[in-house]
Amino acid sequence: MGKQIWKPGNMLYPLPAVMVSCGDRQGHTNIITVAWTGTVCTNPAMVYISVRPGRYSYGLLRDSGEFVINLTTNRLLRAADWCGVRSGRDVDKWEAMHLTRGRASALAYAPLIQEAPVNIECRVTEIKELGSHHMFLAKVEAVQADTAYMDDSGRFRLNDAALVAYSHGEYLELGRKKGSFGYSVKKHRAKTAPCPARSPHR
Ligand SMILES: Cc1cc2nc3c(=O)[nH]c(=O)nc-3n(C[C@H](O)[C@H](O)[C@H](O)COP(=O)(O)O)c2cc1C
Repeated sequence: MGKQIWKPGNMLYPLPAVMVSCGDRQGHTNIITVAWTGTVCTNPAMVYISVRPGRYSYGLLRDSGEFVINLTTNRLLRAADWCGVRSGRDVDKWEAMHLTRGRASALAYAPLIQEAPVNIECRVTEIKELGSHHMFLAKVEAVQADTAYMDDSGRFRLNDAALVAYSHGEYLELGRKKGSFGYSVKKHRAKTAPCPARSPHR
C-alpha cells in the first residue's frame, strides 16, 4: 500500500458538467459543455468558466461578455455530452438536441436552455488568459428556477431534479441524501434512514 506521485494535473472531482449557452451581438448562439466551472464569491454572486480559445463558443463569449450556466440533469445528460463533443461551427446544437432557447431576464445576447432546472445568467467582468484555458470571471445577474421543481409549499426541490456530476471522465447521477449543511454538529440528529433521491422525471 502506498501512494503514487503523479505529475501536476486536474484531479479535483466531482465537478458539475454544465451546459453554457452563449450568443454574440450578431445573433449567433451556441451551447458548450463545461466542467471547469465554479462559484467564487457569495456577495456579489460570482462564478467562472474556463474555455479553450479554439472553441467556437469562445468568440461568442468574448464578443458579448455574456453567458448562461444551465444545470444538467439525468434527462439532459445525453445533450450535455453531445454538446461537449460537437462544435457549433458545424451544427446547430439547439436543433440537434431539441433544446429550446429561452430569454434571459438580465442579458441581451445569451439565451438560456429552457429545459434546464436552473439557469444562471452571467456577465463577464474579467478574462484571465491562464494558459490552455481562459477563465471568464463573471457576475451573476439573475437566476431562473423552473417551477416544475417546486413543491406545494413553494420550496425548490433542486435535489429531486436528478442532477449529474462529472468525475474522472464519467458522469454520475447524484444519489442518496447523506446529510444537510451543518448536520455534523447538530445536537438532535434524526435517526431515520436517509430518503432515496426522488426525481419527477424517472
Ligand atoms: C464533460 C465535458 C466537459 C468539458 N469541459 C470543458 C471546459 O471546461 N472547457 C472547455 O473549453 N471545453 C470543455 N469541454 C469541451 C467542449 O465542450 C467541446 O470542445 C465542445 O465541442 C466545444 O463546442 P464549441 O466548439 O461549439 O464551442 C468539455 C466537454 C465535456 C464532454
